[in-house]
Amino acid sequence: MTEDGFLRPSLSALVPYEPGKPVEEVQRELGLERVVKLASNEGPYGPFPEALEAMTRSAGELNRYPDGGAYRLRVALADRCGVAFEELAIGAGADGLIDCLSQAVLDPGDEIVCGWPSFPSYVIDAVKLGAVPVKVPLASHRYDLPALLEAVTERTKLVYVCTPNNPTGTMTTRAELDDYFGRVPEHVLTVVDQAYFEYIDEPDYPDAIAEHFQAGRRVLVTRTFSKIYGLAGLRVGYAVGPADVVTAIGKVRRAFDLNTQAQVAALASLDAPGELTRRRAANREGREQLGAILQRHGFAPVGSAVANFVYAETGEDGQVLFDALLREGVIVRPLAGFGAPEAIRVTVGTDEELAFFDEALGRVRASAVTW
Ligand SMILES: Cc1ncc(COP(=O)(O)O)c(C=O)c1O
Repeated sequence: MTEDGFLRPSLSALVPYEPGKPVEEVQRELGLERVVKLASNEGPYGPFPEALEAMTRSAGELNRYPDGGAYRLRVALADRCGVAFEELAIGAGADGLIDCLSQAVLDPGDEIVCGWPSFPSYVIDAVKLGAVPVKVPLASHRYDLPALLEAVTERTKLVYVCTPNNPTGTMTTRAELDDYFGRVPEHVLTVVDQAYFEYIDEPDYPDAIAEHFQAGRRVLVTRTFSKIYGLAGLRVGYAVGPADVVTAIGKVRRAFDLNTQAQVAALASLDAPGELTRRRAANREGREQLGAILQRHGFAPVGSAVANFVYAETGEDGQVLFDALLREGVIVRPLAGFGAPEAIRVTVGTDEELAFFDEALGRVRASAVTW
């Protein structure tokens, strides 16, 4: 038995990440013919053909370590974002970047501010380091930027703005973000998490790299290849921010975090704008369909969702609906870990997956006594 005090005390408040069971295992255990996963906000389509080709080409060289600096990817991304090489960090997903940023910035007692319910890594990565997460309630399922500002103290190092917010799917507008940056104190680094950026075509959704970072605001903008690019399994993301912060992220990142396949696939995905447009349009349609399905079955989805997922309150422990849907072969996301224990989040799937979900939810509703 490990002695008291051996493990870092800040870990005692955390529970290990509990991954869902593999789809095949769920299928076998429950005797299901088919299981549809609408749980993790991945894109429903695979990697772009260009990415698959690039991975096939590089597969024969996997005896070599990856390029630890991901030089070609970093150059290409910096070029596309219109920023200096030194202002762009790469990481094992946006999640990897949030982890590295936290390690680079937070000491015990430092504070981070974020909306809540929101993406749990902001909180978990702070708690791991003994830092204090200050969770500011959403207002009508949206990030409340004036309230975030009120929560800032002298100890605040990071403020997270998750837009669109995972799990509610709502976005922060250009005007709201402009107003926020006009008022946030200088000592704070604001992280604008734009993991779903490429899905969004609302005119008042800002590109925080072009409109805030390039305008000289103190901001780190995170993006990922896990969503519209269909590369969630590879773990590759990037962040644009002040050069000294990017350098610090590089100091704590493990050298070979970004494997070769991740690097070549992400790079190859950058030259397929037509596919991005197609996926964005398909997602918009799918999201509307998904909202209508939830509504038809008596759940009020958050109607202003702009990414590839929809959030709905269930009126009781969200785990109940999760379990019922699981028995019907659909995996959705219960949201206790995100701070919304009575809600579920459903990811936009293909038309066929959504039809399957519609039928499953219909059967669950028909047999339920509680809803
Ligand atoms: C808001 C937000 N940030 C970051 C991430 C992490 O993405 P990645 O797969 O790049 O680690 C996610 C993934 O779900 C997310 O929703």
